Amino acid sequence: MEKEKLMRRKMKRVALTGGIASGKSTVSALIRQAGVPVADADVLCRQVMAPGTEAARKILNLWPQAGTQDGGIDRAELARIVFADASARQMEAGIVLPAIQSAFEAWASERASEGAALCVYDAALIFEHGLEREFDGVLLVAADESVQLERLRARNALTEDEARRRLAAQWPLTDKQKKANWVIFNNGSREALAREFARVWAEVLSELGISS
Ligand SMILES: Nc1ncnc2c1ncn2[C@@H]1O[C@H](COP(=O)(O)OP(=O)(O)OP(=O)(O)O)[C@@H](O)[C@H]1O
Ligand SMILES: [Mg+2]
Repeated sequence: MEKEKLMRRKMKRVALTGGIASGKSTVSALIRQAGVPVADADVLCRQVMAPGTEAARKILNLWPQAGTQDGGIDRAELARIVFADASARQMEAGIVLPAIQSAFEAWASERASEGAALCVYDAALIFEHGLEREFDGVLLVAADESVQLERLRARNALTEDEARRRLAAQWPLTDKQKKANWVIFNNGSREALAREFARVWAEVLSELGISS
């Protein structure tokens, strides 16, 4: 009986977002440690473009030069093609985004049927794609641009110019901060992040009416 009640309760969903190299994946590891399932948009993106998928077929029809020998997609080559041509980028988004969305929905309904009270979606472009409407709240990881640049360059071995160009493709942090429900600042150490996370996560759970 208790379990049935749990299953009927509507699962809450939180989007976890933030600029490139702001610390989303680091925060999503803390959320998983707290026992809450997290889906990663980048992982879903790879799955929906895997060899033999509908999205892979459509992409290879349009841009056969992005194909690999095993029928897969060379994501770096595809990125080069679509970032050089706005209409190609729109076409690609029209194929890939709906596929990612439906993969997320399938994942979320599995979590709901397991009785999860809450699930989280880690995605950099929540606001850019207007996806905030699909969630009970948005948790933003915020870091100063200088910190993002430093972490991005350290992790990806990019030149300053390459790192700046990747940053420029996303909304400015101040615009995201206005729209987010909760903000975790990540300019300091990992220890400081863990403390900030614990404080903000307690607020998230309490505002969503979830007991920890
Ligand atoms: N507080 C911190 N102190 C030191 N290093 C950190 C801190 N937070 C994150 N990092 C490091 O900075 C890099 C970027 O963090 P992370 O991968 O979590 O960001 P992200 O927002 O998920 O990035 P992406 O947009 O590429 O998915 C990683 O190498 C991570 O280990
Ligand atoms: Mg990440």
